[in-house]
Order: sequence, then C-alpha cells, then structure tokens
Amino acid sequence: MSAFQPDAYRPETRLVHAGILRSQFGENCEAMFVTQGYVYDSAEQCEARFTGADPGFQYSRFSNPTVAMFERRMAELEGAEAARATASGMAAVTASLMGQLKAGDHVVAARALFGSCRYVIEELLPRFGVASTLVDGTSLEDWRAAVRPETKAFFLESPTNPTLEILDIEAIAAIARGAGASLVVDNVFATPMLQSPLALGATCVVYSATKHIDGQGRCLGGVILASEKFISDHIHTFLRQTGPALSPFNAWTMLKGLETLSLRVDKQVANAGLVADALASHPAVERVLYPFRHNHPQAELARRQMKGGGTLVTFTVRGGKAAAFRVANRLRVVRISNNLGDSKSLVTHPSTTTHQRFNEDQRQGMGISQGMLRFSAGIEDAEDLAEDFAQALTAA
Ligand SMILES: Cc1ncc(COP(=O)(O)O)c(C=O)c1O
Repeated sequence: MSAFQPDAYRPETRLVHAGILRSQFGENCEAMFVTQGYVYDSAEQCEARFTGADPGFQYSRFSNPTVAMFERRMAELEGAEAARATASGMAAVTASLMGQLKAGDHVVAARALFGSCRYVIEELLPRFGVASTLVDGTSLEDWRAAVRPETKAFFLESPTNPTLEILDIEAIAAIARGAGASLVVDNVFATPMLQSPLALGATCVVYSATKHIDGQGRCLGGVILASEKFISDHIHTFLRQTGPALSPFNAWTMLKGLETLSLRVDKQVANAGLVADALASHPAVERVLYPFRHNHPQAELARRQMKGGGTLVTFTVRGGKAAAFRVANRLRVVRISNNLGDSKSLVTHPSTTTHQRFNEDQRQGMGISQGMLRFSAGIEDAEDLAEDFAQALTAA
C-alpha cells in the first residue's frame, strides 16, 4: 500500500499520487494488471478471500488492482468514503438508481437530463415498478410537490445538458433529506474540479469518466461515489452480480487522465469563457448560455456552488437548424461530435443527436431549440477557437 497520505495534500497533488498500489518492483507509473482472476497460496487463503477475512482480490468482475487505484484516487479527489468504477457513465447512472430502488418506490428527477438518463428514469425504472416524476429542476417548489410517501431517490445533473441550467444542489439535498430520500447527482458537466455535490449534501455522485476524466477521447468509463454505507448497502453487490466492470486498461487510462485533469479543466474553463464572450458579441448569435456570465439566469447560484463556469457553452444562432448546421459544417478547428469534455474542442447540435429521441414539444419543454449548438471547449489556443467561430458564423 502507498505511503501517500491524501488528507495532507490538496486536490492537484491527490490527482497525481492518491491511490497508488505499488507492486514489489517499485514502478513509478501505475501498473496495468491485465488479469481476469487471481491465484491463492492455499485453499485456506482462497476461502478467506471469499469470506472477506482476507481483503485481497478474487476476480476482476469484483475488483482489480488497477481499477482499485482509480476508485481510490477518485474517492480522494471527491472527498467520498468509497467509490466504485463502472464500464461507462450510463452503467454508473443505472447502478446508482437500480441498486437502491425496488418495485413500489418512486423517484423524482429534473426534467432537463441527458437523453439516456431520462430513458432510465422515464422508461426503464417504470418497467420494474419504480414510478418516476419529472420536475422543473430549478423550482424548489416542484421538487417538494413531487414527493410521495414512497419517494426513495432524487436525481439531477447540474449544469444541465445542454441548456446549462444550474440546480440548487444544497437546497434540493435538504428537500430529499426531509423526504427520507437519497439525492444522486450526475456531476459530469461540472467535473470534480469545479463542484463537490457531496459537500453540498448529496448522497451519491456519478460520473461519466468518458468525459473530462479521460478527457482525451480514448476510453469509456464511469464511477459512483458515496459513503461506505451507501456503497455497501446499494452498489457493491449490484455491480458484483450484474457485471458492468471497468476494464483494467480503461482504468489505467483514466488514472493517467486524472493526472492532468486539473490542468485541462483550467484551460477549458478559460477557453469556454473567452469563446462565450466572443459568441455573445456576434450578430448571428441570438443567445449565449454560460453559467458564470452576468446574463445567465442563475449566475449567482452558479458562482455560489461552482468554482468555475464550466467547460461548455451553449448558444443559439439565428435561422434555426439550417443555420446551426451551416455554422457547424464550416468550423475547422472545432469538430462536430456528440461527445464533450475532450482536449479537442467539439460542437454538438443537441436536437438531432443527444436529444433526438424526444419530440419537438418535449425538446421545447427542456429549452432546446433547433438553432442551438453546444460547444465543449478543448485546450487549444483561445484566439484560434474564437477566430474559428468568427469565420464559421459568417455562414449563419
Ligand atoms: C450528463 C451525462 N451523464 C451521463 C452520460 C453517459 O456517459 P457514458 O457515455 O460514459 O455512458 C453522459 C454522456 O454520454 C452525459 O453527458
């Protein structure tokens, strides 16, 4: 076990050192343990592993040293007692809910959600007898009014995808606590560097590690963070028995991603802010949404609960879908993609991609228009990005 004491150090130092399990060879870089299973010195030791008396590894669907390093580093970064890694962000979201809910329970969620999260809450859970209510996440009254005696969980993301609404995590956590329900926060858009939902009262935090944590376009992954008790009561057995395990290769890639997370997010936040300003001054742009901008409807709340405005900017061009497509097609540095959080700048047309499965009325209910584009800031030179948008917007 590593001699590194994470509590003594700040997040940037934890990102590089926390959780290292060094083998007998004393390697500097974390080792990638590509193994399905483990061998034991004796049948007695094997038995002890299965009873839990010996805390070593048994099978990589349950745990693996490289995956364990990633989990520990994430827990130390997030300030969580425990973490469990999953094969994707959606596996983390699904396990965080299915692991704690049963038929007859009820879940309340913010309406403005990533499409797949909405599918899990609106379609999948009800198939197993778990009712759900979607609310305007910005209205505390709506959260209160949706509570039923059988409400067991609240679910939200903040900032939301793609409209970048800010939900008051502390206030919603208090409502959940009062109702005897847990609060799960999908913290993908904020990143662990900019927002700490557990400190604001959330029960559980989930990430698509695919996004900023890898952040270099390589691997899918997810992670669930919570108290030791929540993980052991609701998540541990669910993951072990259903099997959405993170591969050691992906965990190793995520560990390398974490080392540079803070540097990348700092640069992405700076780029996002500069591009937001440049877009806002362009006549072809109708509206710019960026959480720390003075005209964001919840700028004050964003500044209270986030350490930076985030790495995403959502803007609407005049002229609807055709104009938005013309702009996206003309961009040269910024590439068209449905992904986000990458070191390469990306642009997405949400209504034809991430939110395509909704009808126009539902999209309007979520504030998603046909002229809307979501920009995920990379780590390129900010001037190059601003100039790329300036030349592309001449096509709007
Ligand atoms: C907010 C949010 N949550 C969850 C996910 C799912 O993550 P993954 O693609 O790693 O399954 C995504 C993106 O895909 C996302 O944007």
